[in-house]
Amino acid sequence: MSDSAKSFYLTTPIYYVNDAPHIGHAYTTVAGDFLTRWHRQKGESVWYLTGTDEHGQKVMRTAEANGAQPQDWCDRLVESAWKPVWKHLEIAYDDFIRTTEPRHTERVQKFLQGLMEKGFIYEGNYEGPYCVGCEEFKLPGDLDEGKCKIHSKPVELVKETNWFFKLSEFVPKLIDHYKNNPSACEPESARNEVVSFLEGGVSDLSISRSTFNWGIKVPWDSKQVVYVWFDALLNYATAVGLTDAKGTSGGEKFGKTWPADVHLVGKDILRFHAVIWPAMLMAGGLPVPKKVFAHGWLLVGGEKMSKSKLTGIAPADITSHFGVDAFRYYFMRAIPFGSDGSFSWEDMSARYTSELANDFGNLASRLTAMIEKYCGGILPARSESKELATSLANTVQTADKAICNLDFQSGINAVMEFCKEVNGYVTAKEPWAVAKDESRKSELEAILYNTAESLRALSILLHPIMPIATKKLWSYLGAQDSLGEIEKQKISEVSKWGQLLPGTKISKGEILFPRLETDRDGRSS
Ligand code: ME8
Ligand code: MG
Repeated sequence: MSDSAKSFYLTTPIYYVNDAPHIGHAYTTVAGDFLTRWHRQKGESVWYLTGTDEHGQKVMRTAEANGAQPQDWCDRLVESAWKPVWKHLEIAYDDFIRTTEPRHTERVQKFLQGLMEKGFIYEGNYEGPYCVGCEEFKLPGDLDEGKCKIHSKPVELVKETNWFFKLSEFVPKLIDHYKNNPSACEPESARNEVVSFLEGGVSDLSISRSTFNWGIKVPWDSKQVVYVWFDALLNYATAVGLTDAKGTSGGEKFGKTWPADVHLVGKDILRFHAVIWPAMLMAGGLPVPKKVFAHGWLLVGGEKMSKSKLTGIAPADITSHFGVDAFRYYFMRAIPFGSDGSFSWEDMSARYTSELANDFGNLASRLTAMIEKYCGGILPARSESKELATSLANTVQTADKAICNLDFQSGINAVMEFCKEVNGYVTAKEPWAVAKDESRKSELEAILYNTAESLRALSILLHPIMPIATKKLWSYLGAQDSLGEIEKQKISEVSKWGQLLPGTKISKGEILFPRLETDRDGRSS
């Protein structure tokens, strides 16, 4: 690949640091990690950005309530909560942006100054309801008896002289954009919502606040700070060098990454990403993102799991029982990406046992044990099962298409179906019976080689979603020495049969997905 090739650029929302991450945040971030790992294994240059949203009243008030200065509070949460959780969950981001970093604040000011000079900003009076939980100016339809529908908390009345962005000017262009580029906002339900919102008319947006100072200063008016969403949305572009001159390293990075390929967001923040953000970019004369994808919510008691409502489940509460791989696998496998879903301990236990422990883990244990027992731990000669090879080729095609379309559930399903098929192959061929007859040695070896090859393919295809177990299996198969690191294996080459090297030492390592112990609440697994 040439050095100048455009990167596949994917972002997550930058999360508010008013508390530690819960499984809702992990859901988006794991999805992004899964997709970017898949694209890396397609051999593409990839850039995966996540980070934290640190300005605004929500974070400022949380810091105050905890007796801390906002900056100290943010530093503490980022270092002690956010980054460690992403590390624990094997999130391989390329960059982590914090909106209090100078690289961000300086570029926001420069961009804003540019919009001012182009005539897209004017001074005006704002009066209306504001929800600090959403950090959003609300419309009458967003309220239920004076409360924000999302946070179920009373809104506050804001009355200020602010700077306004001429958002309304961009409405016709945005409507055209989504009508001409349906893939720019997905799923379809999200796009329809955005288009009908736009068609209902949109007013200009207040983009500064004057009643508190935890934010980026408006460059020409030091009494005002930039509205937190206007600041936050820009992270996607400031992180890769927005406003840097051509020829500088920032300018070059921007050329290689912008526009973003996918902004992954929850449906709670769809309008910001599909209305305000592209309008800001249009005003700045920049290309708009190729896709905004709004996934559904993880629900608790039928409502969105949230930090504000204290219904957040910490990822560690689940990983301590099921492990990190199973955590990553479960949410992508069980909930269609784009729909809401509830986390259920019972459903997760059931899938863990049937799909991970039995279908996948057990296949790996059976194969390595049989190679040890029947072949002295040495991979026998090459063989090719036409049936498995053909099925694998189809699996790769189906999985790749689904995953690239963000249909993670179908993609993983396709791979797990192949896993089931390989189990069926082993059961039908009965290698344990064949082994009893010395004259059928080559038949036995063929069964074992074909099973090992299938496991090679499975470990590569499942690596993006379960990086830990697949890496272990890769080493049990002795593939590291002959084929190199698992991360470097290409999706396009997976179905080339016969890659494992005969004569390689196969080891029977620890069980990939051990049987679950009864958990601490006494529920049996
Ligand atoms: O909105 N189910 O940050 P935030 C699924 N700082 N996903 C969930 C979820 C749930 N119950 N709860 C949270 C903000 N998420 C802004 C974003 S971006 C320029 C600024 C995930 O901390 C989901 O991705 O409230 C959602 O959109 C995001 O966390 C909101 O995180
Ligand atoms: Mg939120």
